[in-house]
Amino acid sequence: MELLFLASEVAPLSKSGGLGDVLGALPAALAAAGDAVSVVCPRYGFIDAARHGFMPRERAVRVRGEATTVWSRTQGRLTTYLIEHERFFGSRRGLYAEHGHEYGDNAERFAYLCRAGLEVPGAFGHRPAVLHLNDWQTALAAWLLRAEHGSNPALARTRSVFTIHNLAYQGSFAKELLPALGLPWELFRHDAIEFHDRINLMKAGLVFADAVTTVSPTYAREITTPAGGEGLDGVLRTRGGTLSGIVNGIDAVEWDPAGDPHLPAHFDAQRLAGKAACKKALQEELELPVRADLPLLAVVSRLADQKGIDLLLAALPDLLRRDLQLAVLGSGRRDWEEALQNAARHHRDRLAVRIGFDEGLAHRIEAGADLFLMPSRFEPCGLNQLYSLRYGTVPVARSVGGLADTIEDFDGWRRGTGFLFKDYDHRAMVTAVRRALELFRDKRAWHAMMRRGMAIDHSWARSAERYRELYRRLLEG
Ligand code: ADP
Ligand code: GLC
Repeated sequence: MELLFLASEVAPLSKSGGLGDVLGALPAALAAAGDAVSVVCPRYGFIDAARHGFMPRERAVRVRGEATTVWSRTQGRLTTYLIEHERFFGSRRGLYAEHGHEYGDNAERFAYLCRAGLEVPGAFGHRPAVLHLNDWQTALAAWLLRAEHGSNPALARTRSVFTIHNLAYQGSFAKELLPALGLPWELFRHDAIEFHDRINLMKAGLVFADAVTTVSPTYAREITTPAGGEGLDGVLRTRGGTLSGIVNGIDAVEWDPAGDPHLPAHFDAQRLAGKAACKKALQEELELPVRADLPLLAVVSRLADQKGIDLLLAALPDLLRRDLQLAVLGSGRRDWEEALQNAARHHRDRLAVRIGFDEGLAHRIEAGADLFLMPSRFEPCGLNQLYSLRYGTVPVARSVGGLADTIEDFDGWRRGTGFLFKDYDHRAMVTAVRRALELFRDKRAWHAMMRRGMAIDHSWARSAERYRELYRRLLEG
């Protein structure tokens, strides 16, 4: 099967969160399973394409009359294409924003990515059976495929899949932009991309893709309800059986405690000593007292409304009175960054806060912590709990979306891989942390819990197979 992915981020080249992780791993897993896969992404200013083994193809595609360069790199059956555009991508140091401010031309930037991406198959001799789109940045391609590529031999028979990684980001723009995006006014209808009198680019994917998926079965259900639908639950309900949820996998090479190059020591379920060494090194790195006996609770997160950081802040006074250490790595909302840093200044022996995006530290925290906290308001899938399980770091999480689908609550006896709580309330979160701290004192039970989590296989192979089944159904239907 030939497959074409469009995305705004592909790890390790570009990443703002789990979307990049998924695009860095799913296409490779599909290629390993035998499909011929292409991935198209922008060449942002911070990507040194040549250093990553890409070759430039000068003026390889034309977008609305203007030729542009495409960088390509082939690894087995996987080819990655990076779209060059100095003004839209090359001159940018961020993906969507810089210094906390969204770029003013994001609609044009990603409409351009969609158009350029659809020119790639014709220019490079591909005939994709499926076009797989991800989040609002590439949603418009579902409509462009139908409206502008009916007579393109490379795409004439291509079916489209749109995956929602996060319904909260919809690509909402002023309607006056429509002509600049090269879109006709007849697209500005309620049953197309109009939403509250604005352009909603995600709707192009929700309405025009042949199938819509999201990244966990529970989130797939939640988004068809008014509480979880971000205003689009009605549109999603009309998709009925063409909406499904497939849980993300993890890149089992990138996130492997037995070989992770970011770690000072290595471990697996049979040899846990390396984890103790990682904890000690992490405490030193974060300038926390080196104490093997104290449970180390960690957060690695975008500091966005979705992630429940307000619960963490409300619970801080209570948590910091307990015998534990807390490590937070994240960036996002300025007020939360400041509140966390401020708290850290007052509790240096208990709380370490690092503001910023630091891939290596994220790995060292996963490895060195005992507990990983994810109090999300909503969570389409979540990857950090999967990394935590693999690294023997017991997750404490709110029972929503993909967290509910991938963590089994401790049953007080012998079952479970983590601690879940239901209500969006800091007291409910503290109760879950307290249950975890109690078990932590019983070393045998704790190690058994760690090993249960570490034994679960969350590698991409199984989820990739679910996508392949979906593609096959689409092509037959
Ligand atoms: P989301 O995509 O909503 O942010 P996920 O749990 O799916 O949530 O994925 C988050 C990814 O981003 C993980 O790989 C996580 O380690 C990474 N991440 C988030 N914040 C940071 C940070 N400040 N530094 C390094 N990595 C981070
Ligand atoms: C989004 C979601 C996250 C998910 C990721 C990858 O960023 O917030 O839950 O894991 O996409 O699908």
